[in-house]
Amino acid sequence: MTPCPAKGVKPLQIGGVTLSNNIFLAPLAGYTDIAFRRLCRDFGAGLTTTEMVSVKGLYYNSANTRELLAAADNETPSCVQLFGSDKEFFVRAINSPELEKFDIIDINMGCPMPKITKNGDGSALMKDVRKAAGIVEACAKTGRTVTVKMRTGWDKINAVEFARALQDAGAKLIAVHGRTTQMLYGGNADWDVIASVAAALEIPVIGNGDIKTVGEVEFALENYGVAGVMIGRGALGQPDLFARLTGRDGGRLVDIILKHIDYMRAYFPERYVVTNMRKHLACYLKGVPDTKQLRQEVNVVENLNELVDKIKTTFGVKENL
Ligand SMILES: Cc1cc2nc3c(=O)[nH]c(=O)nc-3n(C[C@H](O)[C@H](O)[C@H](O)COP(=O)(O)O)c2cc1C
Repeated sequence: MTPCPAKGVKPLQIGGVTLSNNIFLAPLAGYTDIAFRRLCRDFGAGLTTTEMVSVKGLYYNSANTRELLAAADNETPSCVQLFGSDKEFFVRAINSPELEKFDIIDINMGCPMPKITKNGDGSALMKDVRKAAGIVEACAKTGRTVTVKMRTGWDKINAVEFARALQDAGAKLIAVHGRTTQMLYGGNADWDVIASVAAALEIPVIGNGDIKTVGEVEFALENYGVAGVMIGRGALGQPDLFARLTGRDGGRLVDIILKHIDYMRAYFPERYVVTNMRKHLACYLKGVPDTKQLRQEVNVVENLNELVDKIKTTFGVKENL
């Protein structure tokens, strides 16, 4: 039987930008680097976004910031996520040559980490609707397609009022993570609040929080009025979830892991690949029988070829890469 896309998975229009489908990979700093995003796009993710990039860092020419702006060839349309709280810096960033290649400019109004919010950035903007709307308005005036990723509120829920103001200011899509800032990543995402935002807005609203399976995506699309779904932690260890959602064959786990390593190798030095892959392998191997030894070994292996050999041996892969 030919696999078919999950129910409710379909193309999506964001302003003048058309996406092949409405299932997004959420930005996860430290995980969704260019290699993982490329892999998720291979499997059919409709949109991937860079890890969050500081508008001030861009202005002051930080090398680390610039590295985050790399995008894979298959990230089309492409999306960069910016954070900050000064609209002048946002506009300068958007007008900089480095951002020209991006089709969508996403503004982070959801990051709860104190090192970000203490400067008034990320989800701290949810405490100041006028300031947040002013940033969106200034960014939208550049003529670029501007979207926002937000939470349900800071401590109290103000998502509907907040999202409406951003829509009126020119945002073309809003992604709502169904938690307040105070909740960080604990408790459950409140999809009823996401639904109330979706019902109140004319622009597409994307629901985000705790989605890990095809069934959960279908349920969200059918019951909460959202135009699409964004998946973060649920894609770690199973980027082929996007394949299952878009009616493709994801292939064997070991091939996914080896391809991920190959992609990492294409962009990063060996040291980064080995250490970053530890986090990913913990996700890939969770609950997989007969991988206990490999799970322990990956934390001590320093050499990439050795790591690949151990993975192949564990999964009984004979041929060379
Ligand atoms: C390790 C980690 C890093 C994150 N980095 C970002 C980020 O850079 N930008 C952003 O908007 N959200 C970030 N988030 C939030 C996620 O995009 C997402 O909203 C959240 O994890 C809830 O979705 P999920 O349950 O599907 O993971 C991060 C979350 C985690 C756990």
